[in-house]
Amino acid sequence: MEQTEVMKPETLEELIKTLHKLFESDSVNVEEVQNIMESYESKPHEWMKYAKFDQYRYTRNLVNEGNGKFNLMILCWGEGHGSSIHDHTDSHCFLKLLQGQLKETLFDWPDRTLQGGMLQRSQQVLLENQCAYINDSLGLHRVENVSHTETAISLHLYSPPFQTCRTFDQRTGHHNSVKMTFWSKFGERTPYESTVSQENN
Ligand code: SIN
Repeated sequence: MEQTEVMKPETLEELIKTLHKLFESDSVNVEEVQNIMESYESKPHEWMKYAKFDQYRYTRNLVNEGNGKFNLMILCWGEGHGSSIHDHTDSHCFLKLLQGQLKETLFDWPDRTLQGGMLQRSQQVLLENQCAYINDSLGLHRVENVSHTETAISLHLYSPPFQTCRTFDQRTGHHNSVKMTFWSKFGERTPYESTVSQENN
């Protein structure tokens, strides 16, 4: 795919502008988006207002809606917090570390002959500023902050945006459809929803 020359974004604002340009067309150049996200050097004062923690589970904080083409969000992981094994609803998922470290475990899709639990394919520890990529054709993943002493903060881009995904039971491979909610949007706490939503953690 043709690659236009894109400058390294010096700020989060510049990164967002660049992402808007990259997602103007209907095709996504995965390598280019991954490189641009990785080249942004995380500066806490630029994203601090979105970084909101919950004592019990990781939070999802919407930063930008990408003209309807993508959702950009900051996820805040307390010590020991992690997601369920999940798919990405046919979307692209880019995951960049802004602070701390996260462990990503890749799984094969469960099949009928599942024995001894879902097959774990690989594991990697993502370090500050690294950007990982996954989509459903590459498999499923679980993300965890395994540290007992440090929090972790990550920047996620999903394109196209999605509101539900499937979570998987590692032992049986059975799945549930879950609604993904935001703890905050654009730096403001989202109103409490009276309907209890099941989240991905
Ligand atoms: C993850 O990749 O584990 C985070 C899933 C989410 O968007 O909640």
